[in-house]
Amino acid sequence: METCPRLILTLLLAFLALSLSPSTAYPQLDHNDFLACLSVRLQNQTSIANVAYTPNNSSYSSILQSSIRNLRFTSPSTPKPLVIVTPVDESQIQEVIHCSRQHGLQIRTRSGGHDYEGLSYTSRFDSPFVILDLINLSEITIDVGQESAWVQTGATLGQLYYRISQASRTLAFPAGGGATVGVGGHISGGGYGSLLRKYGLAADNVVDARLIDVNGRILDRSSMGEELFWAIRGGGGASFGVVTAWKIRLVPVPETLTFFSVNRTLEQNATKLVHKWQYVAPNLPEDILIALIIRKVNAGERKTVQVTFISLFLGRVDALLPLLEERFPELGVRREECREVSWVQSTLLFANYQPEDSPEILTSRVTRSNSSYFKAKSDYVQDPIPEHGLEGLWKLFDEEEADMAELNVAPYGGRMQEISESATPFPHRAGNLYKFLHLVYWDEAGKEASERHINWMRKLYAYLTPYVSKFPRAAYVNYRDLDLGVNKEGNTSYAQASRWGFRYFKNNFNRLVRVKTMVDPGNFFRNEQSIPPLFSWGKKN
Ligand SMILES: Cc1cc2nc3c(=O)[nH]c(=O)nc-3n(C[C@H](O)[C@H](O)[C@H](O)COP(=O)(O)OP(=O)(O)OC[C@H]3O[C@@H](n4cnc5c(N)ncnc54)[C@H](O)[C@@H]3O)c2cc1C
Ligand SMILES: *[C@@H]1O[C@H](CO)[C@@H](O)[C@H](O)[C@H]1NC(C)=O
Ligand SMILES: *[C@@H]1O[C@H](CO)[C@@H](O)[C@H](O)[C@H]1NC(C)=O
Ligand SMILES: *[C@@H]1O[C@H](CO)[C@@H](O)[C@H](O)[C@H]1NC(C)=O
Ligand SMILES: *[C@@H]1O[C@H](CO)[C@@H](O)[C@H](O)[C@H]1NC(C)=O
Ligand SMILES: *[C@@H]1O[C@H](CO)[C@@H](O)[C@H](O)[C@H]1NC(C)=O
Ligand SMILES: *[C@@H]1O[C@H](CO)[C@@H](O)[C@H](O)[C@H]1NC(C)=O
Ligand SMILES: *[C@@H]1O[C@H](CO)[C@@H](O)[C@H](O)[C@H]1NC(C)=O
Ligand SMILES: *[C@@H]1O[C@H](CO)[C@@H](O)[C@H](O)[C@H]1NC(C)=O
Repeated sequence: METCPRLILTLLLAFLALSLSPSTAYPQLDHNDFLACLSVRLQNQTSIANVAYTPNNSSYSSILQSSIRNLRFTSPSTPKPLVIVTPVDESQIQEVIHCSRQHGLQIRTRSGGHDYEGLSYTSRFDSPFVILDLINLSEITIDVGQESAWVQTGATLGQLYYRISQASRTLAFPAGGGATVGVGGHISGGGYGSLLRKYGLAADNVVDARLIDVNGRILDRSSMGEELFWAIRGGGGASFGVVTAWKIRLVPVPETLTFFSVNRTLEQNATKLVHKWQYVAPNLPEDILIALIIRKVNAGERKTVQVTFISLFLGRVDALLPLLEERFPELGVRREECREVSWVQSTLLFANYQPEDSPEILTSRVTRSNSSYFKAKSDYVQDPIPEHGLEGLWKLFDEEEADMAELNVAPYGGRMQEISESATPFPHRAGNLYKFLHLVYWDEAGKEASERHINWMRKLYAYLTPYVSKFPRAAYVNYRDLDLGVNKEGNTSYAQASRWGFRYFKNNFNRLVRVKTMVDPGNFFRNEQSIPPLFSWGKKN
């Protein structure tokens, strides 16, 4: 009885696979025309020969792979760029935009390459594309007196953290934990990290930016205007142009902070602790964050679910312990489990290094753990999940597909609930208790493994429906998820885009559409989940 629908499903998937994997070559367009366009335009400047890589260049593959973090998008059938350009200055970006428009190529801008669906280096559209890889635009200039910095978008968070720590022990920047994450994508989509309850998101701490628009103009905050400046601080950069640098506000931190990370399995009352955490963590003072990582582990012969309570406190252990004793005594954190560290050492810890490691290690673009295949989704929780709801969630971890699954949970409260929903395009503020990042990793290549794990993720998502935000079921754009809907090539209708647009941006979506219509009415800067301009359908460039 089951074979019939399954066969149809298989055929359907096979059909989808065929229609979704266009050939990797684009015979209709010769990359030489594009390169010729670039060389003419660049006569005066750095030779194009030093920054453009075509598929028959021996470095093409290694440059393409260098910042791919999700092995799902490294297979031979993944559509590849016609050319990769690694500009060393802004004028080369202007030329790439000009020549791409002239030759009907799309641009995918890549900073750190961490996009969960690979949108910065591959495309599900049929059109040929160029990767504008900003790896060589990574200058960082710190101004300790002004407590600010200019950082070019090709820099990584780790490079930024390292440079700040070289300049000051008491300045920091509130952004994510992954050291190899790019500043370009991360800040334009929001940017959560261990200082979020005190200082909000990375995007909340941007004071100026440089952006190159569809006409090749280099704009800063005053010349781009407040609407466009608003849009790129949480609306995702890819829809509006190429952000080349951010001016960020550095924030004060004490010289000594306290970090702890303690594990509790189901047998150690993890369910009750997580249940209680939902009431405690969002209401703690803004100087402390206690986040959760939930995963499956081996406890002797048995598998169980383990919850890591991972915390950063902006103060010393002597002040932390009484606070924990008062607000969360059940967790039972002991003094010897706490480590007093500098801010940069805390970034090492959140990036899975040790505080004794040289902070210079943060500047490496090579990730510590090997890349693997993964699929992610996100959710926002507004009411505590009851214990039986948590128990149902743990049951999903019994399945083999969950062997390397991980739920990352970030508490709200503090600064996050003080910022209004419309201050930036990122709308997930007051009213949320916490944010979920659901991740499933796997090691096996091939479609079958991929489908099994992605299906597990979809099952988890379905299971959580009654417990998470509704109307819309909100999602975080930096945890990109194409299950939420995709634009159609050449016809990005508002109706299609609003399927995912309201989830990522709530009512800010309409304002983003207005900005897009103003700055890029022809929809040159587009991808599977870019903001559509109004009245653009049918247009190609
Ligand atoms: C290991 C890992 C750890 C992470 N940790 C965190 C975390 O702690 N907190 C958090 O909030 N998120 C985290 N993320 C998610 C991360 O913030 C997003 O994936 C982010 O978009 C990555 O930025 P990127 O520059 O590395 O990505 P890219 O893939 O280069 O870019 C992402 C998107 O932004 C566009 N884009 C990139 N640069 C520019 C630019 N200069 N101008 C215009 N558009 C641009 C791209 O075209 C693409 O659409 C993590 C992701 C990974 C893989
Ligand atoms: C070359 O440089 C000169 C002087 O800087 C400038 O006037 C000219 O426009 C440039 N030409 C091109 C093709 O960029
Ligand atoms: C590959 O491209 C780079 C950058 O354009 C260039 O410097 C190099 O000479 C090329 N190598 C080969 C073998 O073509
Ligand atoms: C690279 O490929 C192009 C055509 O795609 C060809 O014209 C060119 O000669 C090739 N260059 C090398 C060095 O093989
Ligand atoms: C660009 O960056 C790569 C990787 O960091 C480096 O190897 C290369 O030398 C850089 N190229 C230029 C022209 O700066
Ligand atoms: C907690 O669990 C993680 C993952 O299983 C492990 O890497 C870490 O060492 C554990 N921490 C402690 C303090 O035991
Ligand atoms: C679990 O909680 C119960 C009370 O709720 C307590 O008696 C018991 O000691 C706890 N177990 C552990 C391992 O902490
Ligand atoms: C990473 O991969 C290499 C080569 O496949 C392997 O030797 C190494 O053990 C892996 N490291 C980790 C941390 O998995
Ligand atoms: C684009 O999509 C809209 C709505 O989905 C449809 O009405 C319209 O005919 C399409 N236009 C083109 C050119 O495909």
